Amino acid sequence: MEIKIFANAQEASKQAFNIFKEQLESGAEVFGLATGSTPEALYALLADSDLDFSNAVSVNLDEYVGLDNDHPQSYHYFMHDHLFQFKPFKQTFVPDGANLDADSAIKAYDEILVTYPRDVQLLGLGPNGHIGFDEPGTDFDATMLKVSLTESTIEANKRFFDDVKDVPTEAYTMGPKAIMDAKTVVLMAFGKGKAEAVKSMIEGPVTEASPASILQNHANAIILIDEDAASLLSEQTKTAAK
Ligand code: GLP
Repeated sequence: MEIKIFANAQEASKQAFNIFKEQLESGAEVFGLATGSTPEALYALLADSDLDFSNAVSVNLDEYVGLDNDHPQSYHYFMHDHLFQFKPFKQTFVPDGANLDADSAIKAYDEILVTYPRDVQLLGLGPNGHIGFDEPGTDFDATMLKVSLTESTIEANKRFFDDVKDVPTEAYTMGPKAIMDAKTVVLMAFGKGKAEAVKSMIEGPVTEASPASILQNHANAIILIDEDAASLLSEQTKTAAK
């Protein structure tokens, strides 16, 4: 893992932007994208830039089950709202949360993952160490799967909904294996609420109990964090990161 610690989220997002720019300029064609508040600053930088993604393909990580694609809290909507309306891609894929037939939704997306191998995969980090919607305990060998969200993830995501009862309880998500298939992985995590998860990801054992820890085994994993998210790391890790 290459770990970089920044004074704040904006500085880390600028670095993520530079990685996307370099990837695009060196011929990357397929970008794995993520949702949540963490990548919003990166998407704003991309939207304002003169980078041209019109020959690129995007493949998103996950989607809630049971929300129509035009629901304001769906990840389809999020991607349109934050990026695609400003920066058109040749093709964009997000798992189909409106398809309640899990077998067919998973099979369709597994085929997309095979057809469009990702050059780079962007990730956020859940406070409990999840990546995508791969909650603690998710099988590291899973490619695409349907998951039940943990209470803590529903709690963490309720801020986007009018009522906690409106938060979907299930999601389709790329599994750890699919995430690891990307040539380069860029994970961002900001704020004290992520500090425990960052510590487990970087300094803990590689275990399904801490899904992001699998990135220790990735040949090109770049971790961009702010000082608050880095606050529980050992001095040794922090020194090596700077
Ligand atoms: C959700 C998403 C994840 C995201 C996480 C953290 O659970 N499925 O992809 O990384 O939230 O969200 P935030 O960036 O808002 O902290």
